[in-house]
Amino acid sequence: MLKKKNSYVVAVVGATGAVGQEMMLTLEQRDFPIQSLRLFASERSEGKELDFKGQKIKVERLTDDCFKGIDIALFSAGAERSKIWAPVAAKSGCVVIDNSSQWRMDPEVPLVVPEVNSHDLSWHKGIIANPNCSTIQMVVVLKPIHDVARIKRVVVTTFQSVSGTGMKAMDELMTQTTDILNFREIKTNVYPYQIAFNVLPHIDKFLENGYTKEEMKMVNETKKIMGDDSIRVTATTVRVPVFRCHSESLNIETEKKLTANETRAILAKAKGVIVYDAPDKNIYPMPIIVADKDETYVGRIREDESIENGINMWIVADNLRKGAALNAVQIAEELIK
Ligand code: A2P
Repeated sequence: MLKKKNSYVVAVVGATGAVGQEMMLTLEQRDFPIQSLRLFASERSEGKELDFKGQKIKVERLTDDCFKGIDIALFSAGAERSKIWAPVAAKSGCVVIDNSSQWRMDPEVPLVVPEVNSHDLSWHKGIIANPNCSTIQMVVVLKPIHDVARIKRVVVTTFQSVSGTGMKAMDELMTQTTDILNFREIKTNVYPYQIAFNVLPHIDKFLENGYTKEEMKMVNETKKIMGDDSIRVTATTVRVPVFRCHSESLNIETEKKLTANETRAILAKAKGVIVYDAPDKNIYPMPIIVADKDETYVGRIREDESIENGINMWIVADNLRKGAALNAVQIAEELIK
């Protein structure tokens, strides 16, 4: 358990990565009470210097005793590293907030989106999981609707940016785009097909049931975060050539009828949500508007005329911020409250 202090020794594991960099920026922007910041990445980055609050901090590599004296460690270095190192860190007395998929469905590990289930932080045993990026932005919107009208079923299709895959994927989209525009041959390393000027209905590995792991994360993590196994979710997750922000089309079936206006009113009051919905003025959420923002933006709210109690909407959030770094920092903020 975390002891109350005026300031904390914080670590970012995976500090050189897309999410790690955003974690550092978020800690700085939100003025998290940091006594000192330690940065970790692979051996390749050892000794590299990164800026934090105008200071240069050297990147270290992970060792068995590197977590001694650290209060909170934000991990974003992939599931394999979290599997090995999160228990090492927790054993050293540090609270781990882990952005990977490694611990999310472990019954001993709370899976937390502060706007939805901060109460679950009370039973952590040293590791807290940060949910999947697409799931975080969806549950922020689903929870207030569920509280009023009980959600029976959700059909979601995602349009996910390449930053969700990491730095290498961002580089690949940039390089492929410039190569194509310059009539050069393109190289494909990160995804099975080119991502520039394309759409891939494939995120993470395919499973035996025909879904991808990403799709099943949205199904299973939603139930765990909302604390309700009865919510039925079906997902199609799609990678699009966008650098930042995941967009999602949601079809929500509720027990109690909600009109579009009632839904707008519920979401207008919800924490972490901005209703951005005036189709007569071409106002709807898009990645170019939501990048770098903290909230989940909701628009295109309308009744599903094909069923009795259904609502359609379009939601967009910055996957590196609310979908990853910000949610992790918000968890840390809850812990020190
Ligand atoms: P490095 O830059 O040294 O490879 P992304 O998802 O954007 O690719 O970032 C992954 C992050 O995880 C990077 O900071 C990367 O560091 C880090 N990482 C990869 N392998 C290891 C490892 N074996 N130990 C610690 N950090 C690692």
